[in-house]
Amino acid sequence: MNPRRLLAAPIEAALAECCGAPAPALVRPASRPEFGHYQANGVMAAAKRQGRNSRQLAGQVLGTLEASGGLAGCAEIEVAGPGFLNIRLKDAFLRAQLDVQAPLLEPAAAPQRVVVDYSSPNLAKEMHVGHLRSTIIGDAVARILEALGHLVFRQNHVGDWGTQFGMLLAHLKETGQDAEELADLEVFYRAAKARFDAEPAFADRSRAMVVALQSGDPEARRRWRQFIEVSLAHCQAVYDRLGATLKRSHVRAESAYNEALDGVLASLGERGLLTESDGAQCVFLPQAGGEGLGPVIVRKSDGGYLYATTDLAAVRYRAETLRADRILYFTDSRQSLHFRQLFAAAAASGFKPDGLRLEHMPFGAMLGPDGRPFRTREGGVVMLTELLDEAEARARAEVEKKNPGLDADEQVQIARALGIGAVKYADLSKNRASDYVFNWKHMLAFDGNTAPYLLYAHARIQSLFRKGGLNLDALRGRAEPRVPAERALAVALVRFQEVLEQVAEDGLPHLLCAYLHDLAVKFTGFYEACPVLSAAPAERENRLLFAGQTARTLRAGLNLLGIETVDRM
Ligand code: ARG
Repeated sequence: MNPRRLLAAPIEAALAECCGAPAPALVRPASRPEFGHYQANGVMAAAKRQGRNSRQLAGQVLGTLEASGGLAGCAEIEVAGPGFLNIRLKDAFLRAQLDVQAPLLEPAAAPQRVVVDYSSPNLAKEMHVGHLRSTIIGDAVARILEALGHLVFRQNHVGDWGTQFGMLLAHLKETGQDAEELADLEVFYRAAKARFDAEPAFADRSRAMVVALQSGDPEARRRWRQFIEVSLAHCQAVYDRLGATLKRSHVRAESAYNEALDGVLASLGERGLLTESDGAQCVFLPQAGGEGLGPVIVRKSDGGYLYATTDLAAVRYRAETLRADRILYFTDSRQSLHFRQLFAAAAASGFKPDGLRLEHMPFGAMLGPDGRPFRTREGGVVMLTELLDEAEARARAEVEKKNPGLDADEQVQIARALGIGAVKYADLSKNRASDYVFNWKHMLAFDGNTAPYLLYAHARIQSLFRKGGLNLDALRGRAEPRVPAERALAVALVRFQEVLEQVAEDGLPHLLCAYLHDLAVKFTGFYEACPVLSAAPAERENRLLFAGQTARTLRAGLNLLGIETVDRM
């Protein structure tokens, strides 16, 4: 149940009746507790549009709502300030939502087909920290969309084509190596690149290799396929370790669109969108809002296709074959222009049907403690596997410090959840649009908006149940708010679906993190004000239901972020 949506509908009906025209209710969580639980801010704007007194209109809307009985079952409303509607959810309504056995989520009324394009590394090199954000954020959004009943198509649009592969394959051939023996793709890439830059003859042979590959030479293809397999296996190992849901079946590489590229060019030509410039084929984009997007090259003068051409073919495939309603692209913000151009070209060419939403979900850079791009001490790119090793080692030290009594196996398991969870949560909890500073100390801290804090809050409730000799899963009933701390917790608990719907819409997992952190804080307030195990039987029962509902919500929320919970810490 989504309280925001539930409240908005009758308020909007009343507003429309009073104004004679539809107007948004703009329901938001209350900005301060004394304003209630929610507030509707839409009356002021509606009054302004009609040149009316907003406080008067608010009174009229309230009267209309009361006459229709629209919100009688769930909330009390009052007019405040210049025309806000302050909304307080009723205890009976909260109680009805807090059935500890009921599913936490309701499926979307109109499920959509959503392509989530994420991770998508370039297979020429080993995955590095630059791909961490795309993988983690994209995976969380994919999980959340799915939990809300949407049909998600994960698409790992890996880069497996292009001139770099000529250099790699030539080096592979000349050193007599077998791709399967390559332990470190990064070292191999650097060696090939160094030769490419230093030896003109090698560079020529690399270019000849690209031609051979593209014309389907069996030897070049065989070597290429082998190399790709090895590189994909490296990626899969990282996904598995990160607990990302990406599987081999989600890979739809750039090369998968090779056959479709001539058709893309032909369709662009038929639409009259191609212009020749120095032998290259370009699309000049309509200037939406006077904003110049510049030309997009779709075929080079030597006949080669580009990143943008492949992406146009991918839009076409996702629209026609996957019948997508939305396509979300998770890449760093430096690709923003590419996607603006792509979306404009896809619209102009008709590859994007009218109903399809194309959305770039950009994210900022990962910075080191010095505020510069995150690098190793030697200035090299940080490999993901090394980063995750360090995360687990540091988490292990924390666990040993906090809980030396645990046996070694359990320590390892907790350290893994904590270490990987900390890295993921640190990333997810920041607004993806901004750069963020990677900081071990912050992400492993047991206070603040961190994974350790939330994992600990969850484990603490589990331990409460253990202490009481109780089984959380066997709990039955509805928690009922009776005192303010319980009410504050109840209001937080019933917002879970609302927050997830917002994340699904905006692709901003930090909203879920902020929610879970707030929930854990509310739980702490509740736990301080309301003793549980020592309370009289009727109170104890009710408070256990609150604790149980909180644990379930924390666990579900963390799992949707791709973070594993543990039962003790
Ligand atoms: N391979 C690209 C990179 O590493 C990201 C691809 C993103 N997806 C897309 N459809 N363009 O930067």
